[in-house]
Amino acid sequence: MFDDPAARDELKSYREKGPDAQELELVSALAGEGLEGATVVDIGAGVGAIGHALVAAGASQVTDVDGSPAYLAAAHEEADRLGTAERWRFMEGDYVGLADDIGPADVTTLGRVLCCYEDWRGLVAASTARTRRLYGVVYPVSRWWMRALAASGNAVFGLFTDKMRLYIHPDRQIDAAIRAAGFQPIYARKGLFWQTAAYRRRPTA
Ligand SMILES: C[S@@+](CC[C@H](N)C(=O)[O-])C[C@H]1O[C@@H](n2cnc3c(N)ncnc32)[C@H](O)[C@@H]1O
Repeated sequence: MFDDPAARDELKSYREKGPDAQELELVSALAGEGLEGATVVDIGAGVGAIGHALVAAGASQVTDVDGSPAYLAAAHEEADRLGTAERWRFMEGDYVGLADDIGPADVTTLGRVLCCYEDWRGLVAASTARTRRLYGVVYPVSRWWMRALAASGNAVFGLFTDKMRLYIHPDRQIDAAIRAAGFQPIYARKGLFWQTAAYRRRPTA
């Protein structure tokens, strides 16, 4: 699914239109907390829309860890074009397996990533544990129509590949897991299909 033609199409669209509505609201919520000098891990960055905006807002370093080499190449190409490549680190693979090598960051973002990954608990646990300040997610609303859309989409994907599946994970449980990992919400909005949420780590007593 996340192959070279898809990455090229998305990069072209990103260059024409910029970040989409959910990416903009997530970056705005995080930037409101101050990002000067912050280190970021952008899991499944795609073409890097969130990461490029966080760099523009003051982040000093972004680690893009993505399972797709084509998307890593697209994000790298865009960072080169923007003249910010020295602030980026690119790692290919599954974040959960690489988390210890990647290490902690001030900010972690997951833009439309939980819906590509079956073990959401493992991904949220590994990433929240390594986030010092701010945690941001864009993921599907878990409503019946999204489950129905995902089921029909997965039936179609299943005709062509066994590598792509769309997961509509339970959003209340995701929110509870992030809070239980030590975070408090600073922004939340549910749209028709996608929801955006940002959290700040609670101060320790
Ligand atoms: C739908 S794209 C989202 C791209 C971008 N963040 C956005 O919001 O448009 C999902 C990306 O997440 C990556 N991905 C999913 N699970 C991952 C994981 N556990 N570790 C690293 N990358 C992952 C996929 O390879 C894919 O490039």
